[in-house]
Parts: sequence; C-alpha cells; structure tokens
Amino acid sequence: MREVWALILAMLFLMAPVSAADYAGSDACKTCHKDIWEDFIKTGHPYKLRPVDEARQGNEEYGIRKVTELPEGVSWDDVTYVIGGVWWKTRFVNKTGYIITGDAVQYNLETGEWVPYHSGEVKPYDCGKCHTTGYSEEGHQDGLPGIVGTWAFPGIECEECHGPAAEHVSNPTEVKPKVDTSSELCGKCHIRGSADMIPASNGFIKHHEQYNELMASPHKDLSCITCHDPHKSVKNPMVEDAIKMECKQCHSDVAKEFEESAMAKAGIACIDCHMPFATKSAVKRAEFKGDIRTHLFAINTDPNAPMFTEDGKYTAGGYVTLDFACLYCHTDKDKEWAAKYAAKAHKFEEEKPATPTPTPTPVKTETPTPTPTPTPTPKPKTPGFETVFAITGILAALYVLRRFRY
Ligand code: HEC
Ligand code: HEC
Ligand code: HEC
Ligand code: HEC
Ligand code: HEC
Ligand code: HEC
Ligand code: HEC
Ligand code: HEC
Repeated sequence: MREVWALILAMLFLMAPVSAADYAGSDACKTCHKDIWEDFIKTGHPYKLRPVDEARQGNEEYGIRKVTELPEGVSWDDVTYVIGGVWWKTRFVNKTGYIITGDAVQYNLETGEWVPYHSGEVKPYDCGKCHTTGYSEEGHQDGLPGIVGTWAFPGIECEECHGPAAEHVSNPTEVKPKVDTSSELCGKCHIRGSADMIPASNGFIKHHEQYNELMASPHKDLSCITCHDPHKSVKNPMVEDAIKMECKQCHSDVAKEFEESAMAKAGIACIDCHMPFATKSAVKRAEFKGDIRTHLFAINTDPNAPMFTEDGKYTAGGYVTLDFACLYCHTDKDKEWAAKYAAKAHKFEEEKPATPTPTPTPVKTETPTPTPTPTPTPKPKTPGFETVFAITGILAALYVLRRFRY
C-alpha cells in the first residue's frame, strides 16, 4: 500500500508544472562546478538559439565565433534570434518570430555560401523542443506570434539535461539534480521522427539522427556517454578528449591488425571508414561526403548493397556502403575494387605481382617452414659436440682472416 502512495506522490510531483523560478541558469553552476562549466561553455549546446546581440558578440575566449553574416536585404534590426551559426549553418528569426525564408537566407559556414530555405513559405519557429531549455509547447515566447511555445532559456543549458536546479544551488548537499546516463537523454534531440527508421534525402542521411543511427548499429547497447563526455565538444578545436572511450579500447585485436596496414601508416583512423561523412547538415563536400559523421559503424562489403531505399527517403539498412566508407577518398576507384580489399579485414594491401621474385628472400621470414622441426631437447649444461665444433670453426675463421689482413 505504501508503495502505491509513493507512486501516486511521485506522479503528482512529476506532473507539477515547472516554473522558470525553479531554474538557476548555467552561470549559477560555475562557482562550484568550474571545470564542467569551462568544458560545457565550449560546446555548441548553449549557443544553439541566441538573442541577436549575444550571437553577434560570440564567445571567442571559448572558441565560439561571432555571427557576422546577414541575408541580403535584412538588417540586424529585423532579427530577434539567431539559430545556430556555431559549427555548420546559420538561420534567422524575424521580428514577428518567424524563420526568415527565401532563396539565399541560410548561411553555410564551411563554404561561405547563402542557400535557399523553404523559399516562398511562411515558417514558424517550432524548433524549441530541441534548441532550448525548459521548453513548453504552450504560448509564444516574448509574445512573438511566429514562435511556437515558451522556454526558460534559449539554447541547451545545464538544466536541460539535469532538470531545474535552483533548489540544488541553495542547498547543494541535500538536493541533488537528476543525472540521466541513458542514450534517451541525448536521443530526445539527436533524433528525427521515430527511431526505427533513418530518414535520408538527396543521397545523404539527414542530420540530427545520431540516436536513430546508433539504435540500428552494432553499438545499440552502448550509451552515447560510453564514448562521449557529455560536457565536451567534438567540434571545438580548443577541446581535447571529448571522446573518452576510443575504438581500440574495446576492439584491441582489430586495432592491432589495422596498425600494420598501409592506410594506418598514412594516418587513416577507424572512424574514417566506420563513421564516414554519410550525413549532411549544410554542405556536400564531395561525392559520397557530407559534413557529419554517421553513427552506423557497420560496413556492408557487398558492392551491390544499396545505401538507401528506392525512393531515397530512408537508409536501406543499419550499415554504410563501400562508396561512403571508401570512395570518398579513393575517388578514382569503384565499389568492386573496394569490395576486393574490404573483405580482407583491415590489411588493405594492393595485390603484389603474381610472378615469384627471382631474388631469394632474406632468412628472417615469419612463415613456418614446411618440414617438421624436431622438438627441442633440453640443452646440456656442458658444451656438446656442436659447441666444440663451432668454436673450432670460429677459431679457424679468425686465423684465416688474420692471415689475409696482412
Ligand atoms: C554551492 C555550490 C554548488 C552550486 C552553485 C551547484 N552545485 Fe551541483 N553540486 C554541488 C555539490 C556539493 C554536489 C555534490 C557532490 C557530491 O556529493 O558528489 C553537487 C552535485 C551535482 C550533480 C551530481 C548529482 C549526483 O547525483 O551525482 C549535478 C548534476 C549538479 N551538481 C548540477 C548542478 C547544476 C546544473 C548547477 C547549476 C544550476 C549546480 N550543480 C550548482 C555543489 C553545487
Ligand atoms: C535539448 C536537446 C539536446 C539534448 C538533450 C542533447 N543535445 Fe547535443 N545538440 C543539440 C543541438 C541542437 C546541437 C547543435 C548545437 C550546435 O552545436 O550548434 C547539439 C550538438 C551536439 C554535438 C556537436 C556539437 C559540439 O559542440 O560538439 C554533440 C557531440 C552533442 N550534441 C552530443 C550530445 C550528447 C552526448 C547528449 C546527451 C548527453 C546531447 N548532445 C544531448 C541538442 C541536444
Ligand atoms: C547535454 C546534456 C548535459 C548538459 C548540457 C550538462 N550535463 Fe552534466 N551530465 C550529463 C550526463 C549525461 C552526466 C553523467 C555523466 C556520466 O555518468 O558519465 C552528467 C554529469 C554531471 C555531474 C556529475 C558527474 C561529474 O561528471 O562530475 C555534474 C556535477 C554535472 N553533470 C554538472 C553539469 C553542469 C554544471 C552543467 C552546465 C555547466 C552540465 N552538467 C551540463 C549531461 C549534461
Ligand atoms: C528533434 C530535435 C530537433 C528539431 C525539432 C530541430 N533541430 Fe535543429 N538540430 C538538432 C540537432 C541535434 C542539431 C545538431 C546535430 C546534427 O545536426 O546532427 C541541430 C542543428 C541545427 C542547426 C546547425 C547549428 C549550427 O551551429 O551550425 C541549425 C541551423 C538548425 N538545427 C536549425 C533548426 C531549425 C530552424 C529547426 C526548426 C524548423 C530545427 N533545427 C529543428 C535538433 C533538432
Ligand atoms: C562507439 C562510440 C560512440 C557512441 C556510442 C556515440 N558516439 Fe557520437 N561520436 C563518436 C565519435 C568517435 C565521434 C567523432 C569525433 C570526431 O570527429 O573526432 C562522434 C561524433 C558525434 C557528433 C558530431 C558529428 C560530426 O561529425 O559533426 C555528434 C553530434 C554525436 N557524436 C552525438 C552522439 C549521440 C547523440 C550519441 C548517442 C545517440 C552518440 N554520439 C553515440 C563516438 C560515439
Ligand atoms: C565500450 C566498448 C566499445 C567501444 C568504445 C567501441 N565498440 Fe565497437 N563494438 C562493441 C560491442 C560490444 C560490439 C558488439 C559485439 C560485437 O559484435 O563484437 C561492437 C561492434 C562493433 C562493430 C560490428 C562488429 C561485427 O561483428 O559486425 C564494428 C564495425 C565496431 N564495433 C566498430 C567500432 C568503432 C569504429 C569504434 C570507435 C568509433 C567502436 N567500435 C567503439 C564495443 C565497443
Ligand atoms: C580503411 C577502412 C577501415 C578502417 C580504417 C578500419 N576498418 Fe574496421 N572494417 C572495415 C571493413 C570494410 C570491415 C568489414 C569487413 C567484414 O565484413 O568483416 C571492417 C570490420 C570491422 C569490425 C567487425 C569485423 C571484425 O573483424 O571484428 C570491427 C569490430 C572493426 N572493423 C573495427 C575497427 C577498428 C577498431 C578500427 C581502428 C583500429 C577499424 N575497424 C579500422 C574497414 C575499416
Ligand atoms: C580517409 C581516406 C581513406 C578512406 C576512407 C579509405 N582509404 Fe584506403 N587509402 C587511403 C590512403 C591515404 C592510402 C595510402 C596511400 C598509399 O600509401 O599508397 C590508402 C591505401 C589503400 C590501399 C592500398 C594499400 C597498399 O598496399 O598500397 C587499399 C587497397 C585501400 N586503401 C583500400 C581501401 C578500402 C577498401 C577502403 C574502405 C573500406 C578504404 N581504403 C578507405 C585513404 C583512405
């Protein structure tokens, strides 16, 4: 009976509306969790959605660029919020809360190009669920009709992952914030549609689908934070060790085998084949190369395996094909070529000429000799016949050498 009441109480507690006053803001965490704050402030998370003045200011001390670009014909006074503009692309929210649409309104950071975004459409800003902290679908933030819902803070702050923590700030030892270590925490936002499909378009996996991909991959039982430090950026060049668990720590046999290959020696890493750029956010860098690494990990070595469904709207399976895994580097080759070498797990050697080389190979070979070797008998302590014979031989050789020196 007590359990039932506890459950009801817990449910009531969970249903109680969270008010903005329950949130303390990330700056409040800085004094006591300085190291975590210093890492977190270098990730893209808190900058995802910014009031226009903050975006223009940037945070260069922590490797976050200033947003300086504006679509043609738009002035800073026409903009209320800037969306992104941190690592891949920038979009803008207008005075009434709608996303600015048109033929050249999205800025791609890598190429400096302006590209179309929902040209001719009216586009409300309904992205708050994944771009803000303490989001609610009700109402309109700042009273702007184009913005769907309200939030405690724009951008993904500490308390989006840890829950409202004002009480913890005033009573840190008694009240502990939530710590969720599951992939579902990250998968709330790093997802598209339902997780059992991986949406694609224009020959690439769509972006923000890391959760969909992971669930289709051989790593579905790992958590995002098995590999990732949740407070560290993988994009910011100022940050190291964002990946706290490397591939080789779990796959040491494979890593050892790969080390010997020509490609490893040329500086190619596990992720270059197993997490290639099959995903696109802003820029198609080359044929079979978008601008985000996939989390599918498995490679299908069948040259005829399709990457996408026939209509191109989804991936065909939980794997990448050889064009995405290999041909974005080996641009002059085809899938059949790749298949020949891909099957020879991790050695990746071009076939050497089939004719035997005429010169004898040096004695130091690792291949076992075909004749059976007798099992070695324990060596006698006293010099045996062979030793005496060898010493005599050496002495004789020395004698001959001395003779010939003069
Ligand atoms: C006045 C100091 C102080 C402030 C301010 C503070 N914390 Fe803490 N926090 C602590 C202490 C102390 C602990 C407990 C450490 C322990 O016992 O392991 C802690 C623990 C935590 C934990 C881990 C809880 C657990 O179960 O392991 C999280 C998460 C956390 N704080 C988040 C935050 C966030 C988010 C903020 C800002 C909104 C914040 N803290 C502000 C002192 C503070
Ligand atoms: C509330 C939504 C949300 C949650 C929860 C969330 N993310 Fe993100 N994440 C985003 C958005 C939006 C971006 C893009 C922001 C940017 O970098 O411009 C992003 C960017 C990233 C990046 C790339 C940017 C960088 O600086 O490295 C990584 C890595 C990442 N998230 C990992 C995680 C992990 C791991 C978790 C779970 C512990 C997580 N995220 C939880 C929304 C979220
Ligand atoms: C994207 C989600 C996310 C954000 C944003 C985030 N955290 Fe965390 N945090 C986590 C996860 C997940 C863990 C558990 C890590 C683990 O167990 O390996 C964690 C662990 C912690 C812990 C306890 C364990 C430790 O590493 O010491 C503290 C304290 C903490 N976070 C504080 C903060 C503070 C302060 C901020 C903002 C400055 C913040 N977090 C921002 C996801 C997040
Ligand atoms: C389901 C969660 C989700 C929704 C909904 C969502 N996004 Fe995102 N968005 C993300 C995540 C996660 C990332 C970063 C990871 C990635 O791109 O793979 C991102 C990245 C971005 C970026 C690039 C950020 C940068 O710094 O370069 C822009 C711009 C963006 N989103 C705009 C939008 C707009 C506009 C909407 C609404 C029309 C929207 N997003 C809706 C999750 C979401
Ligand atoms: C097996 C380890 C592993 C797991 C599990 C994992 N990641 Fe990653 N993730 C990586 C590695 C490695 C990178 C590439 C880092 C680099 O570029 O140096 C990466 C990169 C990323 C990026 C940036 C991609 C890009 O190219 O810009 C995002 C976002 C991300 N991970 C989110 C997630 C989320 C969310 C989850 C859980 C759903 C997750 N990861 C699970 C290892 C992992
Ligand atoms: C925390 C441990 C861990 C880490 C880190 C890890 N893996 Fe795995 N990996 C596993 C497990 C467990 C499996 C599933 C069991 C299996 O098939 O061996 C797996 C399976 C795989 C498979 C499929 C194996 C098969 O037989 O089809 C590939 C490919 C792979 N991992 C590559 C990688 C790469 C690349 C990285 C680094 C980005 C990585 N793994 C990081 C634990 C890990
Ligand atoms: C040049 C591309 C390439 C690189 C680099 C690479 N792999 Fe692979 N890996 C492959 C291909 C192709 C397969 C599929 C072969 C098969 O079907 O068995 C594979 C298979 C695997 C498998 C599953 C089969 C097995 O042998 O257990 C694991 C695990 C794996 N790789 C891990 C790694 C790790 C860890 C690294 C880095 C040390 C790495 N790979 C580097 C291409 C690569
Ligand atoms: C990130 C770029 C990159 C990717 C991805 C890549 N390679 Fe390579 N590959 C290289 C480089 C660099 C070399 C070394 C060039 C050299 O030394 O001749 C190389 C060399 C090779 C060689 C010749 C080795 C020798 O004996 O000279 C083969 C075969 C090969 N790669 C096959 C593959 C296959 C199959 C895949 C996909 C499973 C793949 N590569 C993915 C960059 C890449």
